[in-house]
Amino acid sequence: MAEQATTEKKQRIFSAIQPTGVFTLGNYIGAIRNWDTLQKEYECIYAIADLHAITVKQEPKDLRANSLRAFALMLACGMDPKRSITFMQSQNPNHAELSWILSCSTMFGELSRMTQFKDKSQRHADNINAGLFTYPVLMAADILAYNADLVPIGADQKQHLELARNIAIRFNQRFGETFTVPDGYFPKQGARLMSLQDPTKKMSKSDENANACVFILDDKDTILRKFKRAVTDSDTVVAYREGKDGINNLMTIYSAVTGKSYEEIEREFDGKGYGDFKIAVGEAVADHLEPVRTEYARLSADKQYLLDCMKTGSEQAYRITRKTLSKVYRKVGFLDR
Ligand code: TYM
Repeated sequence: MAEQATTEKKQRIFSAIQPTGVFTLGNYIGAIRNWDTLQKEYECIYAIADLHAITVKQEPKDLRANSLRAFALMLACGMDPKRSITFMQSQNPNHAELSWILSCSTMFGELSRMTQFKDKSQRHADNINAGLFTYPVLMAADILAYNADLVPIGADQKQHLELARNIAIRFNQRFGETFTVPDGYFPKQGARLMSLQDPTKKMSKSDENANACVFILDDKDTILRKFKRAVTDSDTVVAYREGKDGINNLMTIYSAVTGKSYEEIEREFDGKGYGDFKIAVGEAVADHLEPVRTEYARLSADKQYLLDCMKTGSEQAYRITRKTLSKVYRKVGFLDR
C-alpha cells in the first residue's frame, strides 16, 4: 500500500492582547492559558496589540514601558518564541495597511452595533476618536492577515470575531477566495470572568475598585485579600445556582485553576461556609500564578533578550502577512509596485 503523505499542514492560530496594564485573571483564564496549550498542536502567532491601545489616551512613556512588560508577561505565561511567533503589533506595518483596505469592506452600521464601542464611548466621552470606532476592523486585519483558522479569545471579543468573519466572507464573495474565515476558540470554563466586587460586571483592568480584579502579578497576600472580600450573597451553601453570580464566578475560577468539576467542588465544601471557600479559591489562584510571577521576574531582568525575541517575531510576522497583502493588492486592483 502506498505510504500516506504525512506532511499535513498545521492549522494556524492568531490572538492578541492589549498592553494597557498587567494582565488580569480574566485575561489569563479567558484567553492566555489557551494560547499556551494550543502551542502544542498548532502553528501559533501571538501579538501585543499596541496599535489597539492608542484608541484610548496613552502617555507615550507609559505605553512604551507597558508594551515591554506585556511582552515579558506573554512569555512568562508560557508563550515560547522558539515554538510560536511572538511580536509587537506596531512592528508589523501590514496590520495597519490591511486594516484600511478592509475598512472599505466594512459598513458604518456594522461598526455602530459593536457593544464595546458603545461602552468605551461612554467611558471616554471626551475622546470618541475614529480609531475607537474602526478598532474592530484593525482586529479583523490582525486575524485575516495571517489567514488564521482559530482565534482563542474570551467571550467579550466574540462580537468582534463575528465581524471579522463577515468581513472575510464579504471580501471573498466580491474579490474571490482570499481569506480564511476564522473560528473563535473559547475556554470550557471562564470565557467571561466577572468582577469580584460586582459579579454582574466583567472583570476588567480598568475597574476603579482595586479589589474587583486580580492581576496575574499580585502577590499571594493581595490575592487572598481580594478573594476574602469578594462579594457573594446571603446564602451559605457553596453550589452553582442561577442567580448566585458571585459564588458562580468563584466556582468558575476555582474549577478553572484546579480542574475540579462543579459537583466535586460542591462536595468538597459540603458543610463548610463561604469563608472557607473564598480562602481555598485565593490559595489555589495564588499557587497557580506563582510560576508566572517567578518567570516574569526572570525575563524582565533581561531586556535585550525580550527585544531580540520581539524583533525576530516581528520579522516573521511581516513575511507571512506581506504575502497576504500582495494577494489582496492584486485582487483589489492596485497596480504592481
Ligand atoms: P483584551 O486585551 O481586552 O483582552 C485579552 C483577552 O482576554 C480576554 N478577556 C477575558 N476573558 C474572560 N473574562 C474576562 N473578564 C476577560 N477580560 C478579557 C479577552 O476576550 C481577550 O481574548 N481586541 C482585543 C485584542 C486583540 C485581538 C486581536 C484578539 C487585538 N487584535 C486579534 C484576538 C485577535 C482586546 O482588546 O483584548
